[in-house]
Order: sequence, then C-alpha cells, then structure tokens
Amino acid sequence: MIELDYTNVLDSAVGHANGIPKVAFDKAAESSKHIVDNIQRAHAAGALAFGDLPSDEEAIKAVTDFARSHAYPTILILGIGGSALGPAALESGLGRPNSGKRLVVLDNIDPDFIRDSLDSISPQDTMVNIIAKSGVTAETMATFAIVRQWMIDALGEAKARERFVATTDPEKGDLLAIARQEKYPVFIIPPNVGGRFSVLTPVGTLPAALLGLNLDAIMEGARQAAVQARNDFFHNPALVAAIIQFVLERERAKRILVLFPYSQALWKFSFWFKQLWGESLGKKLDRRGREVYYGQTPTAALGVTDQHSQLQLFIEGPNDKSFIFWEVKSFRDVLPIVHPFSNYDSMSYLANKNLADLFRAEKQATEIALTEAGRPNATVSVDRVSEETLGGLFMFSQYLTAYAGEFYDINAFDQPGVEYGKKLTFAMMGRPGFEEYRRKIEEIRKRGRAVIR
Ligand code: PA5
Repeated sequence: MIELDYTNVLDSAVGHANGIPKVAFDKAAESSKHIVDNIQRAHAAGALAFGDLPSDEEAIKAVTDFARSHAYPTILILGIGGSALGPAALESGLGRPNSGKRLVVLDNIDPDFIRDSLDSISPQDTMVNIIAKSGVTAETMATFAIVRQWMIDALGEAKARERFVATTDPEKGDLLAIARQEKYPVFIIPPNVGGRFSVLTPVGTLPAALLGLNLDAIMEGARQAAVQARNDFFHNPALVAAIIQFVLERERAKRILVLFPYSQALWKFSFWFKQLWGESLGKKLDRRGREVYYGQTPTAALGVTDQHSQLQLFIEGPNDKSFIFWEVKSFRDVLPIVHPFSNYDSMSYLANKNLADLFRAEKQATEIALTEAGRPNATVSVDRVSEETLGGLFMFSQYLTAYAGEFYDINAFDQPGVEYGKKLTFAMMGRPGFEEYRRKIEEIRKRGRAVIR
C-alpha cells in the first residue's frame, strides 16, 4: 500500500509563501472529481491503457513462457528513453548480484560505451532484446545493426538469429518488419500505451521475466496501486500528490521537483520518473492551443549520498524546489553496528544501533532541515523494496503524472519536442523524406558559430 505523508507541504509547516493551506485540500476534494473521471473515461474509450495493463493476463503469460525457454545469463537491451529506463529501474531495484543474471542496457550511442559494454559480455551467454515503440529510433536501430553483426561474428547467422527478440508496435515501424523478416519473436507495445507509460508492457515485463523476477507480484502491486488511484480524494495518494505539485509549481513557483529516494534500490526508479514527469508535463501548448510553457523540471538526489553534495543548495539556495522523498520502511538486513570503538565519542553512540536506524534518522534530519528552511517536501513510502512495491510505485507514478496533466489541462501523452529532435537527427544523417528539416539545418549552419580557443 502506497502512503503519502504531505505534512511538510502544508503552510503550517513551511509558511504561507511556500505551503498549501489545509483547507485547500478540502476544496480540492470536491473540485477534482473530474480529474479521476477524465483518466478513467480515456481508459474506457481505449485512448489510454496503462492502468489496465495488470489485468492483461495473456501478455503476462506470453513473456513468462518465453523467459522459461530463453534462459541466458545476460540480457542485453537495445533501447532508449521509455524503452530503456523501466527495465533499468527494475534491474537496479530488484536484481541481485548472486542471481546469475545480468541486465545490460545500451541506452546511449557513445561508441566507447558500446565498445566497452560489448567487450564486457559474451555473445554466447546473451539474449538481445531490441525495444522501440516507434520501430525507427536512430539510436536503437544503429545499435541493433552493430550488435547483430557482433552476434553473427561469434555465432554465425543462423544461431545469431535465435538470440534476438523485438518489442515494438504491433502495426508500424521498421523494427516490426525486420523482426518478421528475420523471424525474431515479437512482443507488442499496445498502441494506446505511450513509451514512458510502457514499463508494465513487455518493455518491462519481458526483461523482468528474463531476469527471473516475480512478474505476478509486480503486476499485483501495480493492480493494487491502480485501484488506489481511483479512490476518493483523501484515500488517493496519486491524486493528492498531483495537486500538491501542480499548486506548488503554479502558485508557489516551485519550478524544480527533486526526487529524493532514501533507497539505493530506487535510484534508477527516480531516473525513470524524471522522464515520465519531464516529457509528460513539459509542454508549450495547453489543450486549447494557448502558449503556456508548463513543466516542473525533475531532478534527482540520493539519500543519504546527496546530503553531502546537493543538500546545502537545497536548504540555503533558491527556494524554487519541491521535494518528494521515496522511503522504504524496512530492509532485508538492518545491519547491527557491532563493537564500535566505544571510547570514541564519534562511535560510542552507535552501539546497539543499526544501519537502518541511522539511515532513517538521516532522512528525518534532512526532512526537518528542509521544512525549517521553508522547503515543501512530501514522502511517498512503501513497506519494503519488493516486486509488489516497485510495481505499485510504477503505477502510482503513472497516475500521478496523468492527473497532473489534467490539472495543467495539457496533453500529458505526447512529446512533440522529442519527435522534432528525432526528425532533425534523421535529416542530419541523410534519411530520405526529411529534406525539409535538412534545409532548416543548413540555414542554421550558415549563421556561423561563436567559438573561442
Ligand atoms: O515517451 C516516449 O514516447 C519517448 O521518450 C520514447 O520512449 C523514446 O523516444 C524512445 O522511443 P522508441 O521506443 O520509439 O524508440
């Protein structure tokens, strides 16, 4: 069960200039009913599907069956953005060093990174999962060509072919056509699930199954969070969190959202969330076509590590941020602090404590310091890091983002800025059909550059 503690966003905690009066929540409970309804209606009409994915038993069974017959120690993901961040979050949250499974995500095309990554794994041990919703993304297609050759060089063409699987749109894109031509198995991203909302499609579920994670538990956690996200206002953490960020950004000028997990396992989850929040809400136009330039800039800090890095800025720098702590209540091992050097003050107080106590105390200290400095912060907590809770956090975050999009009255499900960048890349690399963009690039290049050495 996901819990939201929003004490420290109230004006009684951080002052009127930075916080929200309690009474505003009572009013919002009435005025925000349409927000949940809008997203539900979009699901019922088939325009959205992310909230219904946990009940797609056929898709879950298909990836589980596939993983059973394709057990390789290394899973190599070729994908970027929404086609990579979810699997990376799953692995960093739930992967175990002694599991005998390793996930390598090639979500960058720095040639040295690709070279080093391929040199660090063996083609004999590897299953390659190409993920691209559009089926044409330049980075993924280029990496695919390189990895395919790498695999053929090691195994020969016929055997190499057995090591590839594709996850893509069911109808369009070259990846689908190539996969069919090469007879790769294909898993489907439903057309009504956008890239950054696709972690609970085979984009995330296939890597999870290949890693040997408990997929049923991930989906059960997600299902419960979807139910919770349809509750009435005061039992709906996703809805309350959405209005908090909306009000803090619009009315209290908190233009930056700091994602602050106190959990190493949730560190890459915060990168996944950054894309979800940034791409969904960063919009030039609202639904009526007015220029609004909305969007809260998401950034991440890791507890406790960033207490010794960014926290000084957070407490005393510009008061332009709001914070979400992501907290887990219990750990697999609390690690007792045994036999400290009790004659030293810096250690004696740690006797009979454990690392979990210290971790929790530091989170609370950070929370108090931020609150005293008038920095609004909320805490999302789950019982522990597990398949169920991570599945829940994915679903919670997707509803939170969708609801925030409704408060802003923008389309949270498109990404025209990203698409424009993709078109310019195609044009620059000479892809036919993008000549108009090529001309634009040439015009810009004629302007010259300002460079000094
Ligand atoms: O959310 C989105 O749609 C994008 O950020 C995509 O995830 C990203 O651009 C990758 O696209 P694709 O899956 O088509 O390769």
